[in-house]
Amino acid sequence: MIYLDNAATTFPKPPEVEQAVTEAFHTLGNAGRGAHAATLDASRIIYGTRERLAELFHAEDASRIAFTCNVTEALNIAIQGLFEPGDHVITSVCEHNSVLRPLYLMEQRGVKVTYLPADFKGRILYDELEHAYQSDTKAVVITHASNLTGNVTDLERIAAFTEKHHLLLIVDAAQTAGVLPIDVQKQNIDVLCFTGHKGLLGPQGTGGIYVRKGVDVRPLLAGGTGVKSYSKTQEMPTALEAGTLNGHGIAGLYAALGYLQKMGIGMIYKREMALADRFYNGVKDISGVNIYGDFTTENRVAVVSLNIRDLDSGSVSDWLWEDYEIAVRAGAHCAPMMHETLGTKEQGAVRFSFSHFNTDEEVDAAVRAVREIAEEA
Ligand code: ALA
Repeated sequence: MIYLDNAATTFPKPPEVEQAVTEAFHTLGNAGRGAHAATLDASRIIYGTRERLAELFHAEDASRIAFTCNVTEALNIAIQGLFEPGDHVITSVCEHNSVLRPLYLMEQRGVKVTYLPADFKGRILYDELEHAYQSDTKAVVITHASNLTGNVTDLERIAAFTEKHHLLLIVDAAQTAGVLPIDVQKQNIDVLCFTGHKGLLGPQGTGGIYVRKGVDVRPLLAGGTGVKSYSKTQEMPTALEAGTLNGHGIAGLYAALGYLQKMGIGMIYKREMALADRFYNGVKDISGVNIYGDFTTENRVAVVSLNIRDLDSGSVSDWLWEDYEIAVRAGAHCAPMMHETLGTKEQGAVRFSFSHFNTDEEVDAAVRAVREIAEEA
């Protein structure tokens, strides 16, 4: 198999991730639920992972990071936990359903939402920010990079706007955590939502949320945490971590973060972008190929989405899999408004997404496959 679906989940993982998960099955108890060796092992690995995440994202304190099952849970905690009926929130058409659907839910509860438009290349129209602002605007919720076009959001520009109007900045880092440098303090990010199984190279079922000190989030879940059991409320991070954590997964994430530290995320990003560029340059002039996104800038992640004439994206992806064993993602990518903006609602798009574990040979095989399909279809 040639796996080019790394925006959905990275594959393979570094070998030390699997080793750490296996080892955890032999050692871990339930973190914070006792003082025996097994529970202390779990507490240590969870604390260590929090520390590594805090270091990666430049959080002021590791206790500001809570673990979740995935970025969707993190975004739901933020979106359902920060807004009240009557609040106004600004987001964009580039968002994934993990942002859009919690916002639709909040719209039903009386929250008002403005969706910033984007142009035909999927670039957010930042000039619309000021028009979108209302006296009851509370936050901007924005993706750091589109999972469909690979365009990276100009967070500096968004942060200048949120700072000016004293709004919260909530960032969906699903496609960028572990890939692009993130400094929540320097970038004025109030809430950062991330997953463990994409750029962080960890297991599925891991993720988390950073919440700036002073920002109070109403928890989505309440329950046992193993600490302060006689208190009716909890402080960060346990306030957002009711129930047993995914200790085995977090042990894998710990190892993945160690791998990222060893390799350097800058090196990993450079390598996967070189592969994405190689693919883009290989397919861009093939007759009938339409590519989506802004390739005039280097502010991108390693995603190339395309269509071949009017072929259904699902059929092309089946063709790639059946005849070439190339794994990609077709269809809507849980990004309905982005597809509407690009005019690909019916056709969807075929998304190729790269990891530093891919090789030049795999990319060249994918280019050849696209060329052959374009010629034969
Ligand atoms: N959000 C993931 C993707 O873009 C699953 O494929």
